[in-house]
Amino acid sequence: RAEVVINDSSSPAVVDRSNESIKHNIKPASSKWRHNQTLSLKIRKQILKFLDAEKDISVLKGTLKPGDVIHYVFDRDSTMNVSQNLYELLPRTSPLKGKQFPTCAIVGNSGVLLSSGCGPEIDAHSFVIRCNLAPVQEYSQDVGMKTDLVTMNPSVIQRAFEDLVNETWREKLLQRLHSLNGSILWIPAFMAKGGKERVEWVNELILKHRINVRTAYPSLRLLHAVRGYWLTNKVHIKRPTTGLLMYTLATRFCNQIYLYGFWPFPLDQNQNPVKYHYYDSLKYGYTSQASPHTMPLEFKALKTLHQQGALKLTVGECD
Ligand code: CTP
Repeated sequence: RAEVVINDSSSPAVVDRSNESIKHNIKPASSKWRHNQTLSLKIRKQILKFLDAEKDISVLKGTLKPGDVIHYVFDRDSTMNVSQNLYELLPRTSPLKGKQFPTCAIVGNSGVLLSSGCGPEIDAHSFVIRCNLAPVQEYSQDVGMKTDLVTMNPSVIQRAFEDLVNETWREKLLQRLHSLNGSILWIPAFMAKGGKERVEWVNELILKHRINVRTAYPSLRLLHAVRGYWLTNKVHIKRPTTGLLMYTLATRFCNQIYLYGFWPFPLDQNQNPVKYHYYDSLKYGYTSQASPHTMPLEFKALKTLHQQGALKLTVGECD
């Protein structure tokens, strides 16, 4: 059976120290993982002291009006005005209001998903969260199709849709948005000034083509609150990744949380190369000084939570 637990206690005789994944020595032993309900509830309570996912998942219509000035979270000196389109797309009530799900999947974008066969298992969860509009159709066997919430950093428009330079790319984005079919599209619109135009393009497309998505725009305080929670728990992250943000939010409305596609290492436990993303040719950049993320550090924290039964990490094959 391919589910795994992560076990630090034994090390192979020959250790390639250039590969961080070795430290995360993973062995098949699914039967050992048990959900720790008490710990999950405790974590939910602790996180609630910093943020409330129900509220912080999106700014609501009642709290802003067109023309309001917003200071970007990472570029405090730069401002944006709330456009008419953005205002129209703000939800009236939280898309997570009163929601509780028995099991949730959070699907990260690591290439470790390739050949995992995890698609059916992922799709069987009650609520499935995906990151950065990652494609699903061509990879459904490994990543599944069900999408209840998908994030979209504005940079995705540049990276995956060529900044909509021509009709072909515009059409590709349109098709991807249409395929979301009622799910929540979570757009961090107030983080960095660089995303301004891209957010506006997407907002315009959604309205013009009456795309069936429920848009959500995270609160201005979310990132600092998430960072604060993890700092208090001695996880010194510079800027939480989308995956960690999603886990932190999910603790509020998910009873059990299952993580797939979280593996920020270039080699798997068998020393085979792993793509950074399952769907493109982006290279590992997290080790560079310039990168705002500290994914291996995050992974270590998630691994500890896995060992304690607060969440389940799957980094190998599914049944
Ligand atoms: N992830 C991972 N290992 C990888 C790639 C991604 O664990 N090799 C996880 C991270 O938690 C990440 C999430 O999957 O946040 C989604 O991947 P990606 O789209 O690359 O997200 P980010 O890098 O966080 O995007 P951004 O830099 O735009 O925040």
